[in-house]
Formats: sequence, structure tokens, C-alpha cells
Amino acid sequence: MKRLILLSACALAASAQSKSADFPVPLGLPPIPWPADNPYSQARAELGRILFFDGRLSSNGVVSCAFCHIPSHAFSGDTPFSAGVNGKSGVRHTPTLIDRAWGKSQFWDGRASTLESQVIGPMANPDEMGMLADGVVQKLRDIKGYGPLFAAAFGDGAVTFDRIAQALATFERTIVSGNSPYDRYLAGDKSALTKQQKDGLDFFNKKGECAECHSGPVLTTEKFVNLGIGMDAANPDPGRETVTKKRGDFGEFKAPTLRDVAVRAPYMHDGRFKTLGEVLDFYAKGGLSNPHLDTRITPFYMDEGTKRDLLDFLSALSGEGWRKITPPSAFPE
Ligand code: HEC
Ligand code: HEC
Repeated sequence: MKRLILLSACALAASAQSKSADFPVPLGLPPIPWPADNPYSQARAELGRILFFDGRLSSNGVVSCAFCHIPSHAFSGDTPFSAGVNGKSGVRHTPTLIDRAWGKSQFWDGRASTLESQVIGPMANPDEMGMLADGVVQKLRDIKGYGPLFAAAFGDGAVTFDRIAQALATFERTIVSGNSPYDRYLAGDKSALTKQQKDGLDFFNKKGECAECHSGPVLTTEKFVNLGIGMDAANPDPGRETVTKKRGDFGEFKAPTLRDVAVRAPYMHDGRFKTLGEVLDFYAKGGLSNPHLDTRITPFYMDEGTKRDLLDFLSALSGEGWRKITPPSAFPE
């Protein structure tokens, strides 16, 4: 009996500890769903932050994750395409990394299921970081200063690729955005949005039917949809079809979060729109006609006033959390 009581006291203490050690999320976001096999710890997130900014994870020593996922740009690319180690640009726009913790799948076509399994993608891509898993592991083992950081994060100083991926994924889950005027409005502060923003929200939910795909705490359902983006190219990017092998999925891409969308130009998977005004004009016209266009994308009437309201509303989706993240002041030697 005594032992049982002791055990349950321990369990209580342990659960209290894991709660207080969890990463705080700003208003409007649910708790971060930490995977059972990669729980949060500050040391793990901190190691991930350092790895994220360290150019030595690439073959030329310069191209870090942050090189393309620019922190001040809500961790997205500020040009249509980003060039990697060999100076060659990719064929898809660098998406934002904010609120990926709640993502159902990774990449524009959803080909990776978790943040952990996503990491090998950019690392091994010869046009991105150009380093195979063994190469990265060897390089980090040779940097003695990383040993203690791995020990703090994982219990011993062994450097493995799985641990690199786990630490990066932990850091990525801390790139959050919440407590925007929109969140404060939903939480009951009716003055958090201006009259224009409220009108914009109304249009967004009703006439514009935007919430059909951009809804929920992260403002995306992560549905794969063909809006016609890229369908006018000589060789259109098949998008989701490459993953599912279903012809019906041709030209479908994942609906992105709209959080902080105002600071994330250019837009869409091919970065074709320089402004949100251009994005709205595109939707009002009913997307780009092609045999696979989603049936929910139909033209709507939008006068200048409505457009301004919508733009004002979209700017109310800019929040905080990710803005506090800074590059490390020094890298391990
Ligand atoms: C050379 C530029 C470049 C580098 C370097 C780079 N990325 Fe990316 N990243 C991209 C592009 C482009 C995509 C979209 C590719 C696609 O969807 O096919 C992407 C997609 C992602 C996604 C999926 C996001 C989503 O919305 O589905 C994650 C997560 C990600 N990168 C994390 C990382 C991490 C972690 C690193 C460092 C290990 C990294 N990236 C390095 C350009 C880059
Ligand atoms: C049927 C689903 C659907 C509906 C409805 C929809 N979107 Fe989208 N949205 C998407 C998808 C999918 C993308 C990415 C398409 C691509 O790049 O090929 C996207 C991209 C965007 C982007 C660019 C984000 C970025 O990171 O590049 C903005 C802004 C946007 N939508 C706003 C809106 C607004 C405003 C409305 C309503 C007028 C709307 N969306 C309606 C699915 C939808």
C-alpha cells in the first residue's frame, strides 16, 4: 500500500513537471501535440535552434535551414524560389514554418508525414543543402562543441541522424504564431478588430467561402486543392498527384496557413503573386481555369471597398511567438 502511494506521488510529480516544462503557446493555439517518441525539452529545442541556423549542415558550409526559411519573413522565402548550395533555384516557393506543429503533412504536396521525417529532404537534396545523412553526422561529430548539446538534449553525447532530425523538429514546433488581433477578437475582445476587419472577416467566412479551406486555429484545413496555380506552365507541376499517383489529384497543393500572411510575400507554391491584392483578384476571377480546377473555386464580385476590408482582415492575422526567435549568438566549435 505504502509503495503504491509513493508511486502515485511520483507519477503526480512527473506529470506536473512535464506540464510546467511544456512550451507556452500564445492565445488562440491549442497545446502543441508533442509526439510520444520526441517529447519537448528546452535543451532539445535549443539544440534544434542552433542546428537550424548552422550553415555547416550543408555541403558548402553556408546554406542553413534559415538561409531559405528567413526568420524575419515568418520563416518563408522572400523571392519566388530559393537557391541552395549550387546556386540553382528550386521549383517551388519556400513555405512558412510557423505553426507547423499542427500540420497534418509536410511539403506543398504532403509527401512527408512528420517534421522528423521531413528533415532528410532538404538536407540530401543536391539543389538545397547537398549533404547525405552520414556526411552531416560525421561533420557534427567532428565539431566537439556539439557533444555537450546532444548530451543535454538526449542524455548522452552521441550524434545520430535521428537525433539531428528530432532536435530540428522540436525547434520547428516552437515556431508558433498566435495572439493576433483576430485571436483576441475570437477570445471575446470585440474591439480587437476594426469595423473594416470585421467586415473583411464576414466576407472571408460567407461570400468568399475562404474558410472552406482556411479555417481552424492555424487557419488552414491543409486540404489539397487545385486552384489552377502553375497549370499555365509548359510542364505543369503535378503536385499531389506525384504522391498519391491519382490522376484526379493533378495540380493539387496544400492549402497554407494564413497566419502572418501579410509579411510572407510572394504567394502560392510558385511564388507568382507579389501582393495579397493580386491573390484576392485571382480568387475573385475564380482561379485559373483547367480541367482539374476545384469546384469550390468560383468567381465572386469584389468591389474596392470589400477588397480593402479583406486585406485589413488578413493583416489582423499577424501574431507573435515566432518573432522572438533569434539566431544563436555563437556556434559550437
Ligand atoms: C534551398 C532552400 C531550402 C533550405 C536550405 C531548406 N528548405 Fe525547407 N523548404 C524549401 C522549399 C522550397 C520547400 C517546399 C518544397 C516542396 O514542397 O516540395 C520547403 C519545405 C519545408 C517544410 C514543409 C513545410 C510545409 O508547409 O509543408 C519544412 C518543415 C521545412 N522545409 C523545413 C526545413 C528544415 C528543417 C531545413 C533545414 C534542415 C530546411 N527546410 C532547409 C526550401 C528550403
Ligand atoms: C477550396 C480551397 C480554398 C479556398 C476556398 C480558398 N483557398 Fe486560399 N489557398 C488554397 C490553396 C490550395 C492554396 C495554395 C495553392 C497553390 O499554391 O497552388 C491557397 C493559397 C492562399 C494564399 C497564399 C498563401 C501563401 O502562403 O502563399 C492566400 C493569401 C489565400 N489562399 C487566401 C484565400 C482567401 C482570401 C480565400 C477566399 C477568397 C481563399 N484563400 C479561398 C485553398 C483555398
